[in-house]
Amino acid sequence: MGISILGMGSYVPGQVLTNDDFTRFVETNDEWIRTRTGITERRMAGWEPTWYMGKQAALRAIEAAGTDPAEIGLVISCTATSDFNTPSMASVIQHETGAVNAAAFDINAACSGFVYATDVARRFLETDDSLKYVLVVANEALSRFVDFTDRASCILFGDGAAAAVIEKSDKLYSSALCSDGSGAGLLCSRSLKVAPEVAQESDFEDPFPDMPLHKLYQNGKEVYKFAVQALPRSFELAAEKINITKDDIDWFIPHQANIRIIETAAKKLGAPMEKFIVTLDHYGNTSSASIPLALCEAIDKGMIKRGQKLALIGFGAGLTYGGIIFEY
Ligand code: UT7
Repeated sequence: MGISILGMGSYVPGQVLTNDDFTRFVETNDEWIRTRTGITERRMAGWEPTWYMGKQAALRAIEAAGTDPAEIGLVISCTATSDFNTPSMASVIQHETGAVNAAAFDINAACSGFVYATDVARRFLETDDSLKYVLVVANEALSRFVDFTDRASCILFGDGAAAAVIEKSDKLYSSALCSDGSGAGLLCSRSLKVAPEVAQESDFEDPFPDMPLHKLYQNGKEVYKFAVQALPRSFELAAEKINITKDDIDWFIPHQANIRIIETAAKKLGAPMEKFIVTLDHYGNTSSASIPLALCEAIDKGMIKRGQKLALIGFGAGLTYGGIIFEY
């Protein structure tokens, strides 16, 4: 059983942070950021909560799908930057969108979140005959967790949201969800400083001992090495299950972290860059929202058409990775 995306919507906050803006608080420059990452600007949520961006994207997706919110049976929000420890972003969005008959929960698979959440949605649709529509919402406010004194990471991230209304279909579908928890310490934001004796017991606790709590830290080089393996692998694992190749795919929609990661993945897959949707130049890395933001933009621009085969491939903290292949 496959899925059909009935409608998508996106929302980004109005405040733009350009590469030049960063020169006011860290030693950097536009040329370094553009050539090393491909990013030119990104959005900042400011006062807007994560759920608020998710709600706006969700309302647009529901309108595009032409569905009655009361017929949505499940809301899944993926986020690594929730406004609350509890309740879930999904519960808030369920209420705010009038999806009164839906169950609601969040998924945190970091930047792979939309791939994970869409696959979970498909599994719910497959096993529950009474479920008609699932609303998947990716919403992220990285700017609230970024350390704006760390020039190697603060320039990478941005805020935004995108959502999809999904129903079941008999169209082509495959997925592969993966994780390598040995890299848990390479990209993290922690809310607890553990005792030294506990930290000593594991190789992922306290990799950045001097950093303040609640801020996002990463070992960029190690994450990069992981990413250039994980992106092509995500596609290959999903593709081999249904015996298709990269030549069967019309569009690859990769996680938008760094243009060099996407170019290396394209080369490894032997697929032309023209088949890869890229939006990181204007949104930066919006974690789980990056894939659906790119997908939504390409649909709105008329690049992606009904009947085409898409591969969504992601990687992120965890370290998680995964891919889904489906017909739009
Ligand atoms: O969703 C997943 C999120 N994470 C990722 O995808 C991160 C993956 N990693 C990367 O994208 C890259 O590793 C970075 C963009 C983070 C860094 O690029 P790099 O080419 O690996 O640079 P580097 O860390 O090797 O740093 C090269 C130099 C260093 O200076 P020295 O030691 O050579 O003098 C850095 O201090 O560039 C310096 N540098 C900067 N210079 C100007 C680091 N950040 C900046 C900056 N502006 N913003």
